[in-house]
Amino acid sequence: MRPPLVVGNWKMHGGLAEARALAQSVRDGLKRPRGVEVVVCPPFTALAAVAEVLGGSVVGLGAQNCHWEPHGAFTGEISPTMLAELGCRLVLLGHSERRHIFRETDDEINKKVAAVLRHGLQPLLCVGETAEERRQGLTFTVVEGQLRAGWAGLSLEDMGRCLLAYEPVWAIGTGVNATPAQAAEVHGYLRGLASELGSKDLAQTVRILYGGSVKADNAAEVTQEPDVDGVLVGGASLQAPSFIAIAKKSAAKGGAPKRRLLLCDPESTSCAIGRTAVPPGAIESNRLGISAVSHSTTGARSGYLPALPLRQQRSRYVSRGRAGVRVDSRGRRG
Ligand code: PGA
Repeated sequence: MRPPLVVGNWKMHGGLAEARALAQSVRDGLKRPRGVEVVVCPPFTALAAVAEVLGGSVVGLGAQNCHWEPHGAFTGEISPTMLAELGCRLVLLGHSERRHIFRETDDEINKKVAAVLRHGLQPLLCVGETAEERRQGLTFTVVEGQLRAGWAGLSLEDMGRCLLAYEPVWAIGTGVNATPAQAAEVHGYLRGLASELGSKDLAQTVRILYGGSVKADNAAEVTQEPDVDGVLVGGASLQAPSFIAIAKKSAAKGGAPKRRLLLCDPESTSCAIGRTAVPPGAIESNRLGISAVSHSTTGARSGYLPALPLRQQRSRYVSRGRAGVRVDSRGRRG
């Protein structure tokens, strides 16, 4: 079970009055959200006020960063204990703005992840490549390195308490969101890596959000992807109507299982199911067995599905019926 989660990252926006008003509107607009969990992450200075507004509502409170020590001589820092005391339930860690503007290292992020877990909070670990890294074909290498480092030394149980977000740096605040196919292949890759680092069960249960220019008009499309378990929203979370619309559009649609895409190149000599290389013969049987691997997001079936790096992907098959339907990269039948 991976209930969709929508997280609003307010970044360094808004004073107390704005934060209170925004929290009130989100709370009132999402009184009984169905099929979606919602969390907002205001600036530190507004956490107490927003906690008060959200008290008793279903909208959760999160923070945008924290230090790894519980207390000490760390001028300007906020500790996980302080966040827990204010009622936070999750903490964003490794956000690209922390990595790139404030030069946070993988090692520091790893210490923060472990500290947050120790204090009973949930880390939302963000990973993502820059435009240049994507251009050089390094997307998987980068996100793999960030996840391996972020989870280093964690027990399987602790990995299971983490949330992940794939946030391509080139999509954050740019208005250029990743296509659902781009998000799907990285999410599939991360799920495969979660299986390797943890277990198959972990791969099936860890929630991976997509973030980067999510708006009310593209949220439904990206969260329709089976491996996308919600969204991390920056700019569009600062206006209650757009954030509420995103939350509603990301909600699980009861009874309509998401279809898994089988990303596979029929002419390729190798394919990968998650991170396991599969010989060409096996691709054929996958192709014929598509209906067997399609499943609902309710976790009816374990095992994750084929994902290929885009550079190897010439066509994809949509799991519809026994043989599957070949579609081009825009989803058109061909
Ligand atoms: P954006 O930011 O939605 O404004 O692109 C996302 C994020 O930074 O988490």
